[in-house]
Amino acid sequence: MNQKVILTKKFGSNEIDILKKKYDLIIVEEEGKTLKDIVKEHYNTVALIPFLSDNVNKEIIDSLKNLRIIANYAVGYNNINFEYAGKAGIFVTNTPDILTNATADLTMALILGVSRRILESDKYMRGGRFSGWGANLLLGKELNGLTIGIIGLGKIGLATAIRAKAFGMKIIYNSRTRKKEIEKQYGFEYRDMDDLIKTSDIISPHIPYSSSVHHMFSKDTFRKMKKDTIFINVSRGGLMDENALADVLEENHLYGAGLDVFENEPEVNERLTKLENVLMTPHTGSATYNARSGMGKMVINNIEQALSGDMPDNTIPELKNMLKY
Ligand code: GLV
Ligand code: GLV
Repeated sequence: MNQKVILTKKFGSNEIDILKKKYDLIIVEEEGKTLKDIVKEHYNTVALIPFLSDNVNKEIIDSLKNLRIIANYAVGYNNINFEYAGKAGIFVTNTPDILTNATADLTMALILGVSRRILESDKYMRGGRFSGWGANLLLGKELNGLTIGIIGLGKIGLATAIRAKAFGMKIIYNSRTRKKEIEKQYGFEYRDMDDLIKTSDIISPHIPYSSSVHHMFSKDTFRKMKKDTIFINVSRGGLMDENALADVLEENHLYGAGLDVFENEPEVNERLTKLENVLMTPHTGSATYNARSGMGKMVINNIEQALSGDMPDNTIPELKNMLKY
């Protein structure tokens, strides 16, 4: 008998084929049952592959008696009670690096889309309203010379900053640890959070979500931003108070917002959908062919390592020391 692996939803067919050859693969969405029921039925599963939309809580972890690894198909892992898993000796892995460029590209797409009013422009064309070139038609903001405030200068934050620099923007950043080497190499400037919020023309957080940063973008934070700031979020919806964002947009305090993530996915805030200066994408930051197939390969590799008794390459930093043996 092959060992059991649970995958919550389908991903790339090549990767699914590999998993099917090696393991007894249970795909939750094909079973027409909830993950909670599936884990009770297949309690001897050794590996679980969740998506960021799956809440892997204590109950799920406790149900899987032989679980060796939770191999998240995402770079963020706030959907997993990883401390609890770690204490039970279960590896938790993510898919870093491979999706860095894809996510930074989408960040730029949202920045450009908002600054040049692409949504309105497209609607205008499809609505048959284009009656000729106009000197005042759909004017927007030019990126050259603007200041972008990047919060969290990890891999995705850095890749975004490098792209923004190529567009002629000034880069200021805040992060838990100051990165002087990077500052020197690229000419970025470190700012305290308050200063960054008050002086940026574009603000883009690239930090992991946890309860300590819940609603860090509150009404207060949005109000502190300069008038006509562009707010971007490709990280996690929980970082922002969506209703507060809708308030400041409705008050025309912000220039616009580009959002790939939402507070209550897949719910979309009605108020935001009514605003033409809000550009939204359905959490597709990593949705490129090569990022997604690379993520699948990493997941498989992590599972193989865990099941052969090694520390998986992509064990999350919080558990690396805890699970060393
Ligand atoms: C996407 O949001 C991810 O964490 O991979
Ligand atoms: C946060 O992600 C940091 O880079 O400090």
